[in-house]
Amino acid sequence: MKIAVVILAAGQGTRMRSNIPKVLHPLAGKPMIDYSLEAVQSVTGQAPLVVIGHGAEAVEQAIGDRARCVVQQPQLGTAHAVQTAAPLLQGSCDLLLVTAADMPLISPQTYQRLIETQKNNTGALTMLSVELADPHGFGRVVRNADGTVKCIVEEAQATPDQLTIRELNTAIYCFDAEWLWSALSQIKVSPKGEYYLTDAIGIATDAGLTVQAIRLENPEEAIGINTRAHLAEAEAVLRRRINLRWMLEGVTIVDPATTYIEADVQIGQDTVIWPNTYLRGKTVIGQNCVVGPNTMIEDCQIGDDCTILATVMEQAVVENHVEIGPYGHLRKGAHLAEGVHMGNFGEVKNSYLGPGVKMGHFSYIGDATIGKDVNIGAGTITCNFDGVRKHRTVIGENTFIGSDTMLVAPLTIGANAKTGAGAVVTHDVPDNTVVVGVPARPLRKTSQEKDPQQDGKQ
Ligand code: UD1
Ligand code: CA
Repeated sequence: MKIAVVILAAGQGTRMRSNIPKVLHPLAGKPMIDYSLEAVQSVTGQAPLVVIGHGAEAVEQAIGDRARCVVQQPQLGTAHAVQTAAPLLQGSCDLLLVTAADMPLISPQTYQRLIETQKNNTGALTMLSVELADPHGFGRVVRNADGTVKCIVEEAQATPDQLTIRELNTAIYCFDAEWLWSALSQIKVSPKGEYYLTDAIGIATDAGLTVQAIRLENPEEAIGINTRAHLAEAEAVLRRRINLRWMLEGVTIVDPATTYIEADVQIGQDTVIWPNTYLRGKTVIGQNCVVGPNTMIEDCQIGDDCTILATVMEQAVVENHVEIGPYGHLRKGAHLAEGVHMGNFGEVKNSYLGPGVKMGHFSYIGDATIGKDVNIGAGTITCNFDGVRKHRTVIGENTFIGSDTMLVAPLTIGANAKTGAGAVVTHDVPDNTVVVGVPARPLRKTSQEKDPQQDGKQ
C-alpha cells in the first residue's frame, strides 16, 4: 500500500500572539515543525507534503529540501488545507496520513500504529484520540451507544453534554485516500466560516463506514501548541525526554530539573553535567568531561576530559584535557588545543591557543595565534582593533607574556621570547628576545639568561 503524508502548517496561530509563524517557534532549540517532519519521515521513509500559508516564505525556507510545500491561501480550515494538497497527491497513494505541525510530541511509534491500524481497516479512516482530564481546546469524540465512533464535534459547537466527553481528537488521521478525496467535497462550511476536516468522520459513519479510533498510550504526546503556555509545556516534556536519553547513555545529570539540553546536542559517556547548564545547538561534548554549574555552551565542539566551570561558549572548539573557568567566555572561532588552561575571567575570540597554553587570569585574546606552551600573564590584552580594522597577533612557542602586557596588533612575537610586566608591545619581537617598558624595547639579553624582573610570574 502506498502512503503519503500531509502536514498541516498553514494556520496563523492567532493564540500565540506572535509575529513569528507558529510552527517556527523553537522547541528544544529547533523549529516546532521539525518534530513532525522528522517523525513522519522516519516512519514512511519519504518526504511529506506540507501545507503552508501564514508566513509561507519563512516556513518554506525553514523546511528546505526536507519536504514539498503547497501554499493554502486564504486559510479556510483544516479540510480546505487538505483540499489544497489533493491535486498533488490524487492517484499517487492508497493511504493518506494527515497530521499537524502544532503536534510536535507525537512519536514515530504512534504514527506507525495509526498507519498499521488503517491498513487493516476496511472503513474510511483511523483516527488518533486521547483521554485527558482537561479537554479544553479539543474537538470531542462522540461515540454511539455500541461504542463505535459517531462523529467529532468542535468545542465551539458542542452541547453541554458533549463538553463533558474526555475522549478528544488529536487531529491526526490515516485515511483511505480515494474515499477522502470524494468526502472533502461534502464538507460544509462551519458557523465560523471554516471547512473542518473533523466533519469527515461524521460523513464516513453516516455512509455506514467504520471509523476506528486508537487512543494515545502516552497522553503527553497530545500536547498541541496553540498558546505560549503550551509551548512551555511541550518544552518541559522534550527536556525530560532528552535528559532521560542522555542519562541512559551514561551521562550524569546532577539535577535534570535545571539542565537544558537541546535536541541535536551530543554528549559522551561519563561526562557530568552540573546544574543550571544550557547545552545548545550543534554542541558535541566528549567523554569524562565536567560541565557546569552555571554554564552555557552553544554550537561548540569539546573533546574528552575537559572541565568547564561557570563559562559561556559559542562556536568554539576545545580539544582534550582543557580546563576553562570559572567565568570564561569563548566566542566564535576560539580554538583551544590539548591541555590548555584558561582560568577565571578570560575571553578568547577567533584565536588558536596551542597545546599547553596557560592563561590563568583575566585576559582578552582576539584574532591571535598562540604557540605551544606559551604563558599568558594576568591581564594580558591583544589590542586587536584600531578603531577601523581588526589585526592579528602571532606568538611563538614557549614565549612568556608578562602580566598586564598590551599586545598592539598587528604584531608578531617570536618563540622563547618574554615581555615584562606592563609592557606595551607595538613592534614585532624576534625569537629569544626580552622586551620591557612602554613602548616595549628589547633588553640586550636572551630569555635564557637570568631574568632581571621576576614579573609576570603567576
Ligand atoms: C484541531 C481540530 C480539533 C482537535 C485539535 C487538536 C479541526 C477543525 N479541529 O483544532 O478537533 O482537537 O486540532 O489539536 O480540525 N491549519 C491549516 N489551514 C487552515 C487551518 C489550520 O493548515 O486553514 C493547520 C494549522 O496550522 C494547525 C492545524 O491545521 O497546524 C490545526 O489547526 P488549529 O487551528 O490549531 O486547530 P485546533 O483549533 O487546534
Ligand atoms: Ca491546534
